[in-house]
Amino acid sequence: MPETFTEASVPDQSGRTILITGANTGIGYEAARVLAGKGARVLLGCRSAEKASAARDRIRALHPKAEMELLALDLGSLQSVRDAAAEAAQEERLDLLINNAGIMIPPREETADGFESQFGVNHLGHFALTGLLLAKLRATPRSRVVTVSSTAHKAGKIDFDDVHATRSYSRQGRYSMSKLANLLFTHELQRRLVAAGADTLAVACHPGMSDTELSRHFPSWAMPIAPLLRLMTQSPAMGALPTLRAATDPEVVGGEYYGPSRRFELVGPPVRVRPNAASRDLEVARRLWDLSIELTGVDPESPAGPAGV
Ligand SMILES: NC(=O)c1ccc[n+]([C@@H]2O[C@H](COP(=O)([O-])OP(=O)(O)OC[C@H]3O[C@@H](n4cnc5c(N)ncnc54)[C@H](OP(=O)(O)O)[C@@H]3O)[C@@H](O)[C@H]2O)c1
Repeated sequence: MPETFTEASVPDQSGRTILITGANTGIGYEAARVLAGKGARVLLGCRSAEKASAARDRIRALHPKAEMELLALDLGSLQSVRDAAAEAAQEERLDLLINNAGIMIPPREETADGFESQFGVNHLGHFALTGLLLAKLRATPRSRVVTVSSTAHKAGKIDFDDVHATRSYSRQGRYSMSKLANLLFTHELQRRLVAAGADTLAVACHPGMSDTELSRHFPSWAMPIAPLLRLMTQSPAMGALPTLRAATDPEVVGGEYYGPSRRFELVGPPVRVRPNAASRDLEVARRLWDLSIELTGVDPESPAGPAGV
């Protein structure tokens, strides 16, 4: 596998259909810009139609021939996830699903279905979306599901006793839990795809520390040091490279995890990195999978499901 990977390394994407969640800004936008520029048909899965069309227009200004569709998707509503999946399933093929959208350290909020919002949006919404689209992905040769995690997963623990943080809520703790869930999900999905003999790959990545809108919930006391923090970050375009490598490098193997190579994975070109041992815990991964089915009502492997395996 070559050491360096840049936007120029992304192969031609003509003929491929790609769904990116949270594609209107940050890492998702940069990934959409590159993939649409390389010829993919890109579905911009966004909760704000206004922001989504502004992103589409920005990309089109750079790549006038880019093929993009707006897909209304609020990961904080299972009904919206179902509607978006039903629409995406109408596509002829689905080569790549990038589970990118995320929120970080908001005050305690609940999704439309009563889930704690970080676990609900970052993990459960993506679990349901992937489950509902798995049949479509599996019907497309060598498709991939790329899920964006974070180095924050290393501090994560799945709180099975208080999943929705009704007893106590730590903003950072729940963010870490959701990002650990992203990795547990990737590993469990990959194991199940292999067991089913599917050639779809489940891969994870993280953008290091990138200067995006993810910091919107930073507490006000942190604002004075924001310019200092910014000096330690990389651009969203650099932050999108691990996603692009996980999504398109032909040498990627299912279950791998990609992130920046320098300064404790905070910045730098994308390489294969190591997730922590907790993300490889088979028992916790199985328990999380079952819990996610119970909470979302989506069983990715249920042939009776609307769009299961
Ligand atoms: N930036 C970093 O340093 C960093 C580090 C580690 C991991 N990550 C991960 O990278 C991913 C992308 O984050 P980012 O840095 O690009 O953040 P960002 O600039 O805040 O972008 C997040 C995207 O997610 C969307 N989103 C949020 N809630 C949603 C919902 N309920 N339904 C649909 N879309 C929703 C946002 O839409 P709106 O604009 O409408 O809110 C936005 O498009 C996240 O998974 C994050 O955890 C980022």
